[in-house]
Amino acid sequence: MTDFDPTIPSTTESGAPRESDAHSLSIGADGPLMLHDVALVEKLARFDRERVPERSPHAKGSGAFGELEVTEDVSKYTKADLFQPGRKTPMLARFSTVAGELGSPDTWRDVRGFALKFYTQQGNFDIVGNNTPIFFLRDPMKFPDFIHSQKRTPDSGLRSNQMQWDFWSNSPESAHQVTYLMGERGLPRSWRHMNGYGSHTYMWVNESGEKFWIKYHFHTDQGLEFLSNEEAEKLAGSDSDYHRRDLFDAISRGEHPSWTMSVQVIPYEDAKTYRFNIFDLTKTVPHADYPLIKVGTFTLNKNPLNHYAQIEQAAFSPSNTVPGTGVSPDKMLLGRVFSYPDAQRHRIGTNFNQLPVNQPIVPVNSYDKEGHMQFLHSGDAPVYAPNSYGRAYQDEQGPVDNGWEADGEMVRAAYTLHAEDGDFVQPGILVREVYNDAQRDQFVGTVSGALSTVEEPVLSKALQYWKNVDATIGERIALAVNTSKGDEQPGGDPLNA
Ligand code: HEM
Repeated sequence: MTDFDPTIPSTTESGAPRESDAHSLSIGADGPLMLHDVALVEKLARFDRERVPERSPHAKGSGAFGELEVTEDVSKYTKADLFQPGRKTPMLARFSTVAGELGSPDTWRDVRGFALKFYTQQGNFDIVGNNTPIFFLRDPMKFPDFIHSQKRTPDSGLRSNQMQWDFWSNSPESAHQVTYLMGERGLPRSWRHMNGYGSHTYMWVNESGEKFWIKYHFHTDQGLEFLSNEEAEKLAGSDSDYHRRDLFDAISRGEHPSWTMSVQVIPYEDAKTYRFNIFDLTKTVPHADYPLIKVGTFTLNKNPLNHYAQIEQAAFSPSNTVPGTGVSPDKMLLGRVFSYPDAQRHRIGTNFNQLPVNQPIVPVNSYDKEGHMQFLHSGDAPVYAPNSYGRAYQDEQGPVDNGWEADGEMVRAAYTLHAEDGDFVQPGILVREVYNDAQRDQFVGTVSGALSTVEEPVLSKALQYWKNVDATIGERIALAVNTSKGDEQPGGDPLNA
């Protein structure tokens, strides 16, 4: 018995027909999103309020404080204070799993969150990325559905391979990220031994107003290391806080992990004609085209004193930008800019930015006021702008220096395709040209193991998904799954037995 009728096309919460569950409203296929897209705003706002009080995704995690030191000169690309030569900026990092709840094991196969907050002289600057350079989706409209499919079923409350693969195989844009996830990156040995990526394309602006498209990379100085499926499974049972413990203990011992920060710099005009759409979050930008440029190093050297106050209540958001930086036409990024502070107003409270861990180190003068737990305030100064009593306010007009041009009809659409775009192009290259034989064997074993409990009508779609990525790999996966199902054995790759 249900109050909803699952046989009718989806509606808004007020019962009107929804225009789309897959595409946000943008100006032209590549254009920015519209605040009056009720379907998107309602969907994200409701998603942000789904759970109290743990983070909706990325609930299980931990982190530490540290410092970013800029060792190179990238001032020709950005005027941001924190990236000027020699600058040292205090920071906080939080690492996490995506799908598991607060008490879930650190070593379940998953993408890992890689969230950084820099307390700069121009306000807080956050990079909220993952340990993979791409993502499952390219439109924020699908994010709540994606997370639903990775969490728990409505009836039993269990996690379900059936549900995960149903979403993925019906969303071919996920293939690149799933190929990463089923490879080594899905099981890092520790947070110290994984890379981080801003994943999206962001913007930098220099002193002369010149704009560049930027991709952030953080390479671990500890070296990349991974767990095997067997090690991870054993640890999930014996020490569910394995990664949290590893980071805390290492810093306590004085072993301070560090990461080398680099950027790929893509000239502003190149975006239009480059062979891949650089705003499509399912695509990487090959280093051969735009090489890494080193910026500096960040080091984590101080554990939290109080996990709840300094980690659980920390609020990271891609909306925290500073002058000299900016976002881009990536629709996922534009959706996130709304979703994070909205989630935090709900999860932590309206005045979450007033908590010590979230407070900028520079003075604040905001006309936003009151609400639960207001602690900092503007005294008896005017509470409105403009005013005649000396409280400063801003009134900049005209083009913003970190903006871009957009025009066109309002549409719900995927991005316009660039020459080599396609959902299966880059994942195919990843399995064929980047993975070595051993990594490919392990990949086939992991995917076929996960698919061994998946049933029709999802299984055929999932097997076709892998054949689309690569015909040979797809055949191997199909053979392994069919063999294991025939034998009633857990999945495995017979070619690699
Ligand atoms: C439209 C797409 C997305 C939406 C709507 C979304 C939404 C959210 C929300 C609501 C949270 C919890 C925030 C909080 O309560 O503090 C969160 C956490 C997080 N998300 Fe996303 N997310 C999206 C895509 C992504 C992508 C593409 C990445 C990485 C590239 C990412 C990385 C993270 C990380 C690392 C955290 C945990 C931050 C922390 O440690 O506190 N998310 N996301």
